Amino acid sequence: MRRFFSLILSTAIAFNIAGCTVQNADPQDKDLYVIGFSQVGSESDWRIANSQSMIETFTEDKGYELRMVNARQNQDNQLAAVRTFILEGVDFIVIAPVVEEGWDSVLAEVRASGIPVIIMDRSVSVSDNSLYLSNIGSDFLNQGTMAVEWLEEQTETGDPGQGEIGLTEGETPTEEVIEDEGSDETDTLRILHLQGTYGATAQLLRTQALEDAVEAHDNWEFAAQICGDYTEAKAYEVVSEYLSGDTDIDVLYSENDNMTFGAMRAMDDAGITYGEGGQVTIITFDATREALQYCLDGDIALCVECNPILGPAVEELISDYRNGNSISRQVYVPETTYTASDLTQEFIDSRIY
Ligand code: AHR
Repeated sequence: MRRFFSLILSTAIAFNIAGCTVQNADPQDKDLYVIGFSQVGSESDWRIANSQSMIETFTEDKGYELRMVNARQNQDNQLAAVRTFILEGVDFIVIAPVVEEGWDSVLAEVRASGIPVIIMDRSVSVSDNSLYLSNIGSDFLNQGTMAVEWLEEQTETGDPGQGEIGLTEGETPTEEVIEDEGSDETDTLRILHLQGTYGATAQLLRTQALEDAVEAHDNWEFAAQICGDYTEAKAYEVVSEYLSGDTDIDVLYSENDNMTFGAMRAMDDAGITYGEGGQVTIITFDATREALQYCLDGDIALCVECNPILGPAVEELISDYRNGNSISRQVYVPETTYTASDLTQEFIDSRIY
């Protein structure tokens, strides 16, 4: 804001000298603390809730001006937005990065401008971590670990809660497994892995957890790993295409809810059943209200929570910074998992995202 303010001031002076009228530069008059926020896009319900949380937190009433720029899932747009924030001389920059790589130069430019930066939601991979003050968001590896541990538990106990989904090596297949329409009549667990945007932290770490688990279990295998770019439309497209060639899947591990909704439509079209008593067991990430409803209704087996309400925690970090307090380099928000037995209609109806 400082640099922008002096720019406005000098423009005003220049215009006054020339005898012209200057437009009202209202936000600067109020001396608001300006946050430049480079947002990933609007690809998912999670993202909409995340943007909303920032808008509701950084209000004029509280002394902020939030300049949020939607990158439409394109890192080049993010780099341009951040450079614009530097030119405008905003007071603080918050970046929700589309992907991890490619941030060294622009963050060095931000540092040279003296503007502090927080990385929100996903992470950046840079050679010098001191280029940003803090990284706040989800522990994506833990999310993936919670998902695969749940799946392990279901296959080991043979009590998956949603119909048989596989057996550990050495166990005798039950009648249900042999009769399972989607099973290849062995104890192999075939997983369709629907991945988010390649190179995004949420994709890299949720994928890592599953790949490690597949590696560790002789009888788990990927039916396929396909990218749905975190959108319902793309997921519908790629899953429909996949199912036109192969329908032998036991588990859908989908790296966000919107892709799950697209995959469910594709499975409906292909006549593949899922959920209680169905062929496919669905694991999804985010735990938005709609996904939780599908879970309570028996269509989705496991919702792994990804909390988008990050605005208040980001504000706390910024306040600490402004007050000269030390701030944590890495902040994870608390998250959990839900199966139908954890849910009530009242809980779902009261969920804010
Ligand atoms: O980075 C968080 C992920 O990005 C969420 O899982 C997804 O819905 C969003 O698009």
